[in-house]
Amino acid sequence: MAKTAPASLGLTDALPRHVGIIMDGNGRWAKARSLPRPMGHRAGMERLRGLIQLSSDIGIGALSLYAFSTENWKRPQSEIEALFGLFIEYFNRELDALHEGGVCIRVLGDMEAFPANIGRAISAAQSKTANNEGLKLNIALNYGSRAEVLRAANALIARGQPAAMEDLMAALYTGGLPDLDLVIRTGGEQRLSNFLLLQAAYAELMFVPEYFPDFSDARFVECLRAFGARNRRFGDVE
Ligand code: FPP
Repeated sequence: MAKTAPASLGLTDALPRHVGIIMDGNGRWAKARSLPRPMGHRAGMERLRGLIQLSSDIGIGALSLYAFSTENWKRPQSEIEALFGLFIEYFNRELDALHEGGVCIRVLGDMEAFPANIGRAISAAQSKTANNEGLKLNIALNYGSRAEVLRAANALIARGQPAAMEDLMAALYTGGLPDLDLVIRTGGEQRLSNFLLLQAAYAELMFVPEYFPDFSDARFVECLRAFGARNRRFGDVE
């Protein structure tokens, strides 16, 4: 049950069931302030609480956040380590509040490549919140859509019989969740960057110019309003 009636924010019933956010622009946010890039990631992390709370309060079913892609390993080691530090800090700091808010955490991606302390923090977060029935919060870490599809395809091949489309979708990291209805990318670039490509097959796409640390709750609500006004046909006619 939503804690905040969507109508009180000018939203219709046409809320997305699943929203993805490509959190881009942290580095440029920092650069514009003559700060080191990790400070931009920290500022981005500080935005998560509000966006998650809002999603949870109005009754969005699932929120997927792109936090670290399979391509982000190309970044300088110092930035990667700063990001790892933030992931650990985030789980340590926010887990209890997320759990109390009924949020169910799932990490999308291959955890094998991460240091053991991140793996432990993620496992703890996932198992603590596994039975929660509120917002499904998915954090994409070491995630890439093509790698995800390859992993799913190999799992299906190992079963030794032809798979149906449902089997493929169920074998993705997002198995059991609804498809994405809306993908928002902050930071002005207009591409999907290997984020949940199959799940976004019919998603509405929105590209906003703000860097992620400046992506306010109010702007998020504006995107949700704009989503409600879009005409979705799923290949059908009007
Ligand atoms: C892209 O901006 C952002 C990232 C690669 C990292 C996103 C991470 C966070 C928001 C912080 C913490 C997240 C969690 C889940 C605790 P960019 O660095 O590519 O920005 P740029 O395009 O301006 O360089």
